[in-house]
Formats: sequence, structure tokens, C-alpha cells
Amino acid sequence: MGSRKKQQQQLQDSSDPVGKKPLHGNLLLLGGGGLLLAVAVLIALELSRAPDELRPLSAPRLTSLAEFGGDYKERMLWGSYRPGLYFGMRTRTPKGLLAGLLWFDPDTLDTLMNREMRHAATQEDELARYGWVRHDGEQYGRQTLVDKDCNISLTMVKHWGPESGRGGDWAVRVHARHADGSKPSQRRRRLSFAMYISDEDKPKSPWSVLPFGEPSDLKDGVHLVSGGSSVVGPWSFHAVESAHPEDGPPSGKQTRPVSKRARLDHLAVPATEGEYDLRLSVRELIMSIVYEQYQRHPDEGKFRLYLPNSASTGCNLGIFQVTVWLPGSVDFVFLSHKNPEGAGGPEDEARVAALSGDALTQLIANHEQRYDQHFEEVFSGPAGSEPLPEGQLEMAKAAVSNLIGSMGYFYGSSQVKTERGVKPAWDAPLFTAVPSRSFFPRGFLWDEGFHQLLVQRWSPKMSRDSIAHWLDLMNVQGWIPREQILGAEALERVPEEFVVQDPTHANPPSLFLPIANMAHQLQQEQGEAEELAAIKAFVSAAWPRLEAWYTWFNTSQAGKEPTSYRWHGRNATTQLELNPKTLASGLDDYPRASHPGTDERHLDLRCWMALASEAMAKIGTALGLPAHRVAPYIATHQALSDLGILNALHWDSELQMYLDWGLHTEEVKLQRRTYSAPAMRVATPPSLRHVPHFGYVSLFPLLMRLLPPDSRELGATLDHLANTDLLWTRFGLRSLAATSSMYKKHNTPSDKPYWRGQVWVNVNYLALRALKHYAGQQGGPYQEQAAALYAQLRAHILENLEVQYSGHGYLYEQYDDVNGRGSGSHPFNGWTALIALIAVEA
Ligand SMILES: *[C@@H]1O[C@H](CO)[C@@H](O)[C@H](O)[C@H]1NC(C)=O
Ligand SMILES: *[C@@H]1O[C@H](CO)[C@@H](O)[C@H](O)[C@H]1NC(C)=O
Ligand SMILES: *[C@@H]1O[C@H](CO)[C@@H](O)[C@H](O)[C@H]1NC(C)=O
Repeated sequence: MGSRKKQQQQLQDSSDPVGKKPLHGNLLLLGGGGLLLAVAVLIALELSRAPDELRPLSAPRLTSLAEFGGDYKERMLWGSYRPGLYFGMRTRTPKGLLAGLLWFDPDTLDTLMNREMRHAATQEDELARYGWVRHDGEQYGRQTLVDKDCNISLTMVKHWGPESGRGGDWAVRVHARHADGSKPSQRRRRLSFAMYISDEDKPKSPWSVLPFGEPSDLKDGVHLVSGGSSVVGPWSFHAVESAHPEDGPPSGKQTRPVSKRARLDHLAVPATEGEYDLRLSVRELIMSIVYEQYQRHPDEGKFRLYLPNSASTGCNLGIFQVTVWLPGSVDFVFLSHKNPEGAGGPEDEARVAALSGDALTQLIANHEQRYDQHFEEVFSGPAGSEPLPEGQLEMAKAAVSNLIGSMGYFYGSSQVKTERGVKPAWDAPLFTAVPSRSFFPRGFLWDEGFHQLLVQRWSPKMSRDSIAHWLDLMNVQGWIPREQILGAEALERVPEEFVVQDPTHANPPSLFLPIANMAHQLQQEQGEAEELAAIKAFVSAAWPRLEAWYTWFNTSQAGKEPTSYRWHGRNATTQLELNPKTLASGLDDYPRASHPGTDERHLDLRCWMALASEAMAKIGTALGLPAHRVAPYIATHQALSDLGILNALHWDSELQMYLDWGLHTEEVKLQRRTYSAPAMRVATPPSLRHVPHFGYVSLFPLLMRLLPPDSRELGATLDHLANTDLLWTRFGLRSLAATSSMYKKHNTPSDKPYWRGQVWVNVNYLALRALKHYAGQQGGPYQEQAAALYAQLRAHILENLEVQYSGHGYLYEQYDDVNGRGSGSHPFNGWTALIALIAVEA
């Protein structure tokens, strides 16, 4: 809590536009004469000019490309773009209209005492399972959640009718039943769903909320609230009690006694109180209000958690609590209105009916079918392959759905380290997938390259849209911050130490993976003419940004030796870490040279640069750019794929392995000096040498397919990869050889091993991709070996993830190399979702 406050304070301190104060100061001092004033203004301008780190690259914005406007923009306006919540909707606008869902048991004080009210997706809630099992990224999503003895399903449908206004309409059906269908537990008979809606902008017209005072029953539908927003115009929000087809005859609603009908309570307030934004703490708001009520009537014995049924003037946060008997369900319907007088009028009734009850059931069935069709189209295996077993197919659908369903929209600015202290960069939007809804509900640069491999398959346009947002975040120097913490909702979930972004630190340019696919498609003229034209327009507009990004890497992260590279940002002075971390590489604690310094050569970065160079060369060629613009990329790609140069820098001929190089000693220990401050003890002084830790980094020349198919280095690397003492396990390739001195070692007493043995799906995916490549190299001496390893590795990963998913309900961040158990954060719907591509051999 304390650190959260500090973060907020820090934000406020630095939120002055850069240099505003000096500007005023100078003008006041120099008050007189025209010339003096001009000089003063010049000085002031110079002072007020934001440092380079904080200025956007001056190149056309990719997000302004025509393909992302018009109809597409309209279709994508609303979405479940709040991935940090179990369920939240918002518009893709800086100041959004937004909605969110909470649920809780209204009949027990435990809800308050144990804070058992669900809202933000967190691991502490210990839900046995949740995630999107279907989501098309645009119009339809279905989520299943298991919360103790309660199964909840949530289905979202977007819809456009003739009377729909901007962004269309949407409906959400939430349904709850006992997990054990046959024997409802005695205690929990009811569940409250609280859906809220709020406008981040000033409402265009005052809200009109439900009648004051009394709870109501839902009957055939209730108009909850209507208002006008700068984004969608006039709108209204409704709720209808519905009967779930699986809970018995569809007429169940009518036969239900009045006493068992759903009950509706509400509260509407202004969303901000001074500086305080209630939207960020809807859950706390509800709990404090209900708690106050409890304190006023503690002796009533029959305590129930109900909102007080009141609405204040000027409200723009409305919370609607629907309490249902289990099994039960409710449909919430949002309507946007073309007709300014429309909201709340009598014609709403028919429109609500078309989006709730049996009509909604039918819409859902149609979407479900459409989803399955599209999935089959874009995720079909190679011609003639067996269909996936049912369990693997379900897992693949859930993996892709949860990744697509976790695409979020964020708006705000990064906190950036500059010579003048930590300052906010410019405000900007980001449309991105997130690694994990519970743990990392925000954008991460190198994760995104892997995410987009999947999104690209599902919807090439949506993927370009996302990549466009990322590339638009580039500053004048060509740098993109690695962790994107944009806006208060994102910031809330980040520990303070990770907030500030350092413009000298990189992160793997993995976005070149999907970009290289686009380049390849252009080069091969694969696809429909319209699609190829869109790709061409995109990469053509992206070229100046890609060039700036590439050049930033190629200069700022260059190593001492020609064609070598070095991740910046390792702490060379710390005595507290066993091996100073390399956060920039994405492989955080993967062991590198024991003594960080400028002599280091990082193999993985060099191979990423080979990928980037090749993609640039291909794009430049496909765009028909003049030879002198493309030649440097071709030349750099050739240099980086030259086996002789690679070997001179990174091949250890004694160990027959590719390794990092640097100032290193193996004789390092963490020693407890005092209880709280252990120190690193170095027994033997370091020397310049290869860093003898075989693992994912050593595989990079293979992963990026840089080794000639007949090279003995390829043979040696395959042998090591397949060696069970090194990387091979029944659950996939482990990140660090079991023989490494750093295998499974804590980096500090509180820093558990992370990339020191665990199995990660993103690198295993790259390994499979490479093995498949070498398996297809006719006549190479390692063709058969590569093919056999490919088949085994694929089977191992698929089997283990299926076992873990069906047994534990989630995909995980990583997997234990000894027993295959999922570890790290969950659900981890980010690159672990690549299991879908692995399944269909794509
Ligand atoms: C509740 O969900 C669990 C886990 O998905 C499932 O095994 C169980 O059958 C569900 N119960 C009902 C009544 O659908
Ligand atoms: C390196 O680590 C030490 C603590 O071990 C810390 O005091 C110092 O600020 C760190 N340096 C950088 C550049 O982060
Ligand atoms: C990358 O940097 C090297 C070393 O400065 C340079 O020779 C090469 O031309 C650069 N590549 C490109 C494409 O700019």
C-alpha cells in the first residue's frame, strides 16, 4: 500500500509539462524590450523542448493508416479491452465509456470479512479456473469461471441493428450454478452480479437512473440507466432476468415463484471525488458502503449485502447489483442510439428483447458456430494430418481465445529516465495483448512479438493494428520502452521498481517475427491481392519507424568487436546478486558473464539482429526501395549469418557449444554477511572467456536458423539439445542445462530461479520451428535427426500442457523440468498460447 502511494505521489510531482516552470521564469525576468523578449522566448523554447527521450519519432503515425479507420474502427470501438479484470468492457478511446463486473455472495458477512468480492483478476482469489474459451477479438466471447462451489459462465455478444448508434450494441449474459449440479450446497443459494458502467469523459447529457429508493425485481427487463457520451452519443443500459437453456425448460422463468425472482439494487455516484477516482476501487466503494450499513444495523441477524438504491446528481458511475437464485442468469444489454431522443424510449423494449432471452441464446449459438468454423480455417494442420484429439483441440481454442480475449486498450504515458530526472513521455494509446491477466495485465515489448504470431493468423488486420500501436510508441532516438504502463488502471498493478523505463535499455526485437512473416508473404506473393496490398501499405508506412528502431539497436547495443552486440543495463557494481540480471534480454536471470562489462558479447542479441536484418532486407526489396537503402541490411544479414564470424565470436571449440563471452569466473557464491544483506563472494578472479552456461542462449543460432544445414556446429547443437543431462526433458527443453553451476539457483535469497531450468513455451516454439526447417533441408546430414527431434519434442510439450491444462485449469507462465507442473503466474495466456501453433504444426 505504502509503495502504491509513493508511486502516485511521484506521478503527480512529475506531471508538469516539461520545462513549463523555466518558461514562466524567463519571461517574467526579461519583461521589457522586443529583442530581449525574443531572446527570452528562444531560451525558453530551448528549455521547454522535451529531451529526446520524451519526444515521439517524427514519422507518419501507423495508427492513422486508412485501414484502421472507417468500418474497422467502428467494429472495434467496444471490446473486452480491460484484461486486468475478470470482465470489463471499454471503448477504444482515450477517455472511454467503460463497464465492469463484480460478483459476491450477498448473504454472508464473510464476503466483507474475507474480502470475497471478485473484480480484478488476481491469483489470491484462487479461482479454480477462468479464461476465455471462445473469443473472436471483435464480436463474441465466452468465458467460464469456477469460483469455489459456483460455476459461472459469461458470454459477450456485439450487435448492430438498424437503430444502433456509434459502436453498436452489446449484451452480456452471466450465468451461475452450483459446481456440483445435482446437490446444491445448503448455504450458498444466491449470488450477486454487480455490473457497473462509467464515463471517463464528461457526460454529454446528464444520466437518468432507475427510480430512487426501492429494490425492484427484474421481471421482463428493467431500464437501468441512460446517458449521452462524447464517444457513442446517446445510450441506455438494461437488465433482464433470463433462463439458461441448460437449467431446464426455457419457460423456467415464468414458473419460478415471485420470491425466487432476481432482485435488483443500485447505486449511482460521481466517479471522482477530488483527485480520487472511484472507478479504480469500485470494489472498495461497494464494500465500504455495505459495511456502513452493517454497522448501523449489526443486530439484525439477517444481514444482506445490498446497494442502497440511491443516485446522486451529476453521477457518472452506476453500479447495478442483480441477485439471482442458483441456478440463474441475467442478461445485461447496452444500446447505443442513432436517434438523440431514443435512449430510454419505448422502442428500447423491442431492441432489448432482440438481445436477451431466447433471441440472445440463438445469437450465441450462431457465433459459437462461426467461431469454430474460423478456427478450423486458420488453425488447420498440414494437409493430410490427423485431426487433433478433442482435449488438445479444446486447449488450443482456449489458448487462442484467452490471448485474443486479453487484448487491451490503454492510454497514458511511460515514466522515462532522463538527465533531468524521471519524466512522463507523451500520452499515447496502446492496443495490445497481455502476457497474463492476473499478473501482467499490460503490454510487454518482447512478449508481443510472440503474441502477434497468433493474432496474425487469427486476424491479420487486428495484428497490424496492434503492431502499429507499438511502433507508434517509438521516440526520436528509435527506442520503445519495454514495459508499457499506460494509465492509472495499468499502473495500479505494477511494483514501483518496474515503473521507470530506461531509454538505454533494450528488449528483444521479437516484433520482427510477425513482421518477417509479412515480408515473406509479400516476397512470395502469398495471399489475396487485397490482403497483400494492405500488408504492402503497412510495411511501406512502417519503414521509417523500423529503420529508426533497427538503427537504435545496431548502434546503442553494439559490442566492442565488429558484429558483436551487448545488452545494456546489467548492474556491474552490485554485490547482492549471484549473477547480475539481464532484464533487457527478456531472459532476466539467465546466467551471463559473472562480471558485467563492455567486453561482453551476447549471443542471443546478435541472433535477434540477424532476424531483424533479414526482415529489413526482405521488406526493402519487396517495396522496391533503391539498392543503396537496402544494401546495408543485406550486408549486415550476411555478416551475422557468416559461420566463420559467428564461430570466432561465440563458438567454444573445446565444449563444442555456442556461448556468451565476457569477464567471467565460475567461483562465485552468495554469502550471508548479515541476515538481510548477503554478498557475492568471488573466490577466483574473473578472466575474459566464454561463459560456460549452456541453455536457451546457446540455441539461438539454431533458433534463428543461421547454421548451414551441413555444418558440424548444427550437429553438435542438436546433440546437446537432445541430451537429457543438458536440455532435453519429457516436458520440453529446459532453459538451462542441468549441469550448469547456476541451474535452479536463487539469484538472491528472495529471487527464485526463473530462466534457470524451467521450460518456457516461446523458446520451445522457436526450437520446433527451427527443427522443422532443418528437417526439410533435403540431403543435409542432420535432416533425419532434426525430423525425429521435432516429432518427439512436439509430442512432449503437447502432452504435458494438455495434462496440466485439464488437471489444473490453466496455462502457465512456465513448466517445471522435473515433473512438468505449471509454475510462475497463471493464467498465462501470453506466449504459452503458442501451443496452438505447435498443435497444428504452423
Ligand atoms: C463446473 O465446472 C467444473 C470445471 O470445469 C466441471 O467439472 C463441472 O462439471 C461443472 N459443473 C456443472 C454443474 O456444470
Ligand atoms: C546496482 O546495485 C546496487 C545494489 O547492489 C545499487 O545500490 C545500485 O543502485 C545499482 N546500480 C544501478 C545502476 O542500478
Ligand atoms: C550496423 O552496424 C554496423 C557497425 O556499425 C554497420 O557496419 C552496419 O552497416 C550497420 N547495419 C545497418 C543496416 O545499418
